[in-house]
Amino acid sequence: MRKKISLIGAGQIGGTLAHLIALKELADVVLFDVAEGLAKGKALDIAQSSGVSGFNSSIIGTNNYEDIKNSDVIIITAGVPRKPGMNRDDLLEINLKIIKQVAEGIKKNSPNSFIICITNPLDVIVMALQKYSNLPTSMIVGMAGILDTSRFKYFLSQELKISINKINSLVLGGHGDTMVPSLNHTIIDGKSLTQYVKDKKISQEKLDSIIDRTRKGGAEIVKLLEKGSAFYAPAASGVDMAESYIKDLKKTLPCAAHLNGEYNVKGLYVGVPVVIGKNGVEKILELELNDQEIDNFKKSVKAVDELFNLAKKIDPKL
Ligand code: APR
Repeated sequence: MRKKISLIGAGQIGGTLAHLIALKELADVVLFDVAEGLAKGKALDIAQSSGVSGFNSSIIGTNNYEDIKNSDVIIITAGVPRKPGMNRDDLLEINLKIIKQVAEGIKKNSPNSFIICITNPLDVIVMALQKYSNLPTSMIVGMAGILDTSRFKYFLSQELKISINKINSLVLGGHGDTMVPSLNHTIIDGKSLTQYVKDKKISQEKLDSIIDRTRKGGAEIVKLLEKGSAFYAPAASGVDMAESYIKDLKKTLPCAAHLNGEYNVKGLYVGVPVVIGKNGVEKILELELNDQEIDNFKKSVKAVDELFNLAKKIDPKL
């Protein structure tokens, strides 16, 4: 029997997720949104493309939480995206309210699913989702690191004129301006990025500008689009996580995961490499970081912690 993926939020990312999942025949899809027509319209449109694309996944739109029952995976994009000039943290208050409703809907109707959160500000929203739903931390993760890493890899591949498939990389920390691309753990054609800099294959200035562009990668797109934020790359990243769970691929993926002492962080969601398999987050990998990376990681954790404290002020129940 085909697996079932429910998408909470049928906006730009939700619609793209539905299309990608159908094209891969990864699962049957339930597209849920408070805007009923939007969910139904997009579901029908994608379903009607099956005659051309040849997929057999079923896809329905709904505004009824009962339809998400027994989902294998749930991907959440419900919420408001950024407008030009806004940062992700500006979305906190409104998206916190939305995530509370979503947490209740999931807990009541499909509590055993693997849950991937994409709604921003990511690290704090995924943390709130776990607190509101009280579901196991190994079954709730946030999507950010794959996207940030993919952006970093893309910019590097363009600069070095090398296929993106030859680059392995890792961006750690919170999904914000403090994210930490790891140079030692970025391997290009067998060599670390640190070595690339030493060998002068890329200048420090150029690398710094690529890191800065990665950190602001989402904002660059928000500015260009004028309306809404990035959706193709975020959706592709979410599918990668869902696929690793559904097919038990045990891929190592950078995700916002609940830390319980790893990296000296306790009780907070932060971006780190995790293994995703049929049991959800099966392992958190503790990488060796250099002094500067540790320093930057700490700064990033502090930013997430501060924002979560702000969330607690907005809702003392958190
Ligand atoms: N329950 C379900 N869906 C909701 C709710 C709710 N309580 N509130 C809003 N939505 C829906 C909206 O109706 C909308 O269709 O969430 C959808 C969000 O879609 P978009 O506005 O197109 O936003 P999108 O670009 O998909 O981004 C969604 O992901 O990356 C983050 O920052 C981004 O927080 C944003 C989220």
